[in-house]
Amino acid sequence: MAAAPIQIRFERFDGALGIAPARPPRAVTPEEKPALIARIRERLRALDAVFVAHYYVHPDLQDLAEATGGIVSDSLEMARFGHEHPAKTIVVAGVRFMGETAKILNPEKRVLMPDLAAECSLDLACPADEFAAFCDAHPDRVPVVYANTSAAVKARAEWMVTSSIAEKIVAHLHAQGRKILFAPDKHLGAYIQKVTGADMLMWNAACVVHEEFKARQLEELKLLHPQAKVLVHPESPASVIAMADAVGSTTGIIQAAQRLGAKEYIVATDGGIIHQMRKRLPGVTFIEAPTAGKGATCQSCAHCPWMAMNGLHNLLEVLETGRNEIHVDPATGERARISIQRMLDFAKVHLPTLKGSGDA
Ligand code: 13P
Ligand code: SF4
Repeated sequence: MAAAPIQIRFERFDGALGIAPARPPRAVTPEEKPALIARIRERLRALDAVFVAHYYVHPDLQDLAEATGGIVSDSLEMARFGHEHPAKTIVVAGVRFMGETAKILNPEKRVLMPDLAAECSLDLACPADEFAAFCDAHPDRVPVVYANTSAAVKARAEWMVTSSIAEKIVAHLHAQGRKILFAPDKHLGAYIQKVTGADMLMWNAACVVHEEFKARQLEELKLLHPQAKVLVHPESPASVIAMADAVGSTTGIIQAAQRLGAKEYIVATDGGIIHQMRKRLPGVTFIEAPTAGKGATCQSCAHCPWMAMNGLHNLLEVLETGRNEIHVDPATGERARISIQRMLDFAKVHLPTLKGSGDA
């Protein structure tokens, strides 16, 4: 039986983190786009840089990552790809923890991001000192943290996991009879606890994007599209996960769509992923899962405000100026690397074929 979750004051981040700090990047006009892209390609070559992007960033950036020999993928494959690539500079279009993970794994390389203020609500809701106190209070539990955390939190953990491998790693620890302390995503934690039966004590935080998917509205949408299959990211609430035909990481969701062979899908994750789904499955219909919408607490309407901070203009600017380099305290990075490397070593054996763009 799992212990009762402790309550961490996630509420204090509401509004403060809200959506306000996420500034949209400068808009790109159709006239300037070709020259911007050409210049970015040139700078990537000149800097011996590889461009790694998450599925939630703007389609222009996804296409550019693919066209320049980089990758569009989920958090696990972004980390693995950047680590294995020989380029001297890694440019990450995503959110801060993704850049930090790249830096921790590659301290000798330069890691740049279009906007360093691209945060994540899960990371913000898990301060390192409070997490350390949580671990200290439960020394009998193995600390397992989601990738969406700071370097200092990863440094205090034994394992880092991403959504694509969390279930396998927790099942592995459970089989060894170990009890788990999981942070920070309560929905992902609850889902893994349900499928593995592991004894997990959970931190209390959520993703502001996935938290907004609503089961009742999803039921109504399903009535309008009875043939549609439902694909859900495990950061979503349990009531939404319960309606899924497939639950998975972002790459897992794309692979499920390829595997299930339906003509219509309802997708409960950031709508940015639909760009890749359409490219791989032309002729198939993808519908964004409903959020609470206007008048409720919806702050993002299924689009991560921090992922949206990445754009062509600020990407070119960092490539031209070298600004927005990620720095991680070397001692913290060294300790954090242990929990990340543990996951990568495990993935090599248990999830060797997960890929991003180009694997269709
Ligand atoms: P993935 O690892 O599934 O891409 O998830 C990262 C994330 O932040 C989803 O909100
Ligand atoms: Fe974080 Fe949610 Fe944005 Fe993913 S979608 S980066 S979990 S705030």
